[in-house]
Amino acid sequence: MSAHSSTAPFLRLGVNIDHVATIRNARGGSHPDPVRAAHLATEAGADGITAHLREDRRHISDDDIARLMSEITLPLNFEMAVTGEMLDIALKSKPNACCLVPERRQELTTEGGLDVLSMADRLPDFVSRVKDAGIRVSLFVDPDEKQIEASAAAGADIVELHTGPYCHAALDGNQAHIQAEIDKLARSAQAAASAGLEVHAGHGLTFDTVHAVAAMPEIVELNIGHFLIGEAIFGGLHSTIGRMRALMDKARAAATGQASA
Ligand code: PXP
Repeated sequence: MSAHSSTAPFLRLGVNIDHVATIRNARGGSHPDPVRAAHLATEAGADGITAHLREDRRHISDDDIARLMSEITLPLNFEMAVTGEMLDIALKSKPNACCLVPERRQELTTEGGLDVLSMADRLPDFVSRVKDAGIRVSLFVDPDEKQIEASAAAGADIVELHTGPYCHAALDGNQAHIQAEIDKLARSAQAAASAGLEVHAGHGLTFDTVHAVAAMPEIVELNIGHFLIGEAIFGGLHSTIGRMRALMDKARAAATGQASA
């Protein structure tokens, strides 16, 4: 575990290893191994490992999930679609948490948050089946207060706020647009915490965009994947994760007026 101040709310880093598997699968075979990346992430200061078992198995495989569960010491955040197949795998694997995400076959990555409002008829039952197995349930949602209210009503333990629109705005460089997306995230984080939900965030975060999100005191976990794995080509995985960890700690310390650990 990373060293952190005893009074500042600690911000965990979940390292998403999906794209180690993407590179492996480009050639078949077993190299590079996402489970080895999970071990390295552990040594580098990650607080959790995230993996998304997609319906089409384009990156993480069923065997990767089984190996992660038997080999890693950090909690596994298992990202999955709301389907019967994934429910069976989750109940069998018993990860620390399941993060429910929308999934469309043709998408390059998860494009939007789960539309919890439109799933009010079936989501509470799905959530309670996962929770009854002792697994925490997280819902990946857009920073929208109605979705957050619906997430609490569905019985979720956690909401993970979708930071993709903020990261896209940061790439475009329009300051008013960037600020509007930051404000939405901040309001949503406050609403989620007030509703008694644990607040996570993620998608598209980089060294350049992490500060604003890490500074929001209600957020206790960031899940970051694509940038870390891509940047590791240039800087190595250990040092890339270490740098992200340090940037998160610095942002959190600045926001709470404390010296960085
Ligand atoms: N959170 C969720 C729910 C995701 O689906 C993803 C992408 O798999 C991430 C976080 C991490 O996003 P990125 O790979 O862009 O850092």
